[in-house]
Amino acid sequence: VRILVVGATGVIGGAVADALAARGHEVLRASRRSEHAVDIADASSIRALYARVGRVDGVICCAGEAVDRALLDTTDEDFATSFREKLMGQVNLVRLGVQHVNDGGVFVVTAGIYGTEPPPGAVAGAMVDGALESFARAAARDLPRRIRIVAVSPPWIKESAAPIGMDAPLTAAENAWSYVEAVEGNTTGVIVRPG
Ligand SMILES: NC(=O)c1ccc[n+]([C@@H]2O[C@H](COP(=O)([O-])OP(=O)(O)OC[C@H]3O[C@@H](n4cnc5c(N)ncnc54)[C@H](OP(=O)(O)O)[C@@H]3O)[C@@H](O)[C@H]2O)c1
Repeated sequence: VRILVVGATGVIGGAVADALAARGHEVLRASRRSEHAVDIADASSIRALYARVGRVDGVICCAGEAVDRALLDTTDEDFATSFREKLMGQVNLVRLGVQHVNDGGVFVVTAGIYGTEPPPGAVAGAMVDGALESFARAAARDLPRRIRIVAVSPPWIKESAAPIGMDAPLTAAENAWSYVEAVEGNTTGVIVRPG
């Protein structure tokens, strides 16, 4: 099937794009600096991307920054950035994408473990992860034409943890299987927690 992967140059999205391509799917790789350029923080950029790529069977988002700071250090701008990029960027990718997704297609958004197991110092990121999980559950009730939506909530990924001296068991390639299963399966409104 034809799948748009936003964040395809990243740790998580790169592995997802590679895994889908290895399964024989047609993968359109998007990000701000990819062949298919898009800034998900800008709705007009999302509209332009969909107009360029045409119809797809699935849209996967593995992009969106959230600012991790402690409660009393998180500024208005930190909250606004986190909501604009990671939350509304992905929400808008779904809202504006529905008319471009074929019947029975699928959206996959990326939340994160902070939504359910926040460490100290991650207030805005945790809020956004929780909101994305709620969004997926709710949007599944409203999506037309058997279009599905799944939220993947990854734990720390080995390749991202290593540079900051942390150990994490799950590799990006292992994590990518949850996205492949979301595309090839038939679930909707569910939260997948890899590993
Ligand atoms: N890695 C982890 O351990 C982990 C764990 C749980 C959750 N997550 C979540 O998973 C998502 C991806 O994480 P990652 O570690 O793979 O990040 P990453 O390696 O920094 O990659 C981010 C990707 O998103 C693209 N991107 C960033 N902002 C964008 C925007 N406004 N519009 C379009 N594309 C944009 C980047 O490419 P360009 O620079 O070309 O735009 C890149 O392809 C994040 O939301 C993160 O919070 C990550």
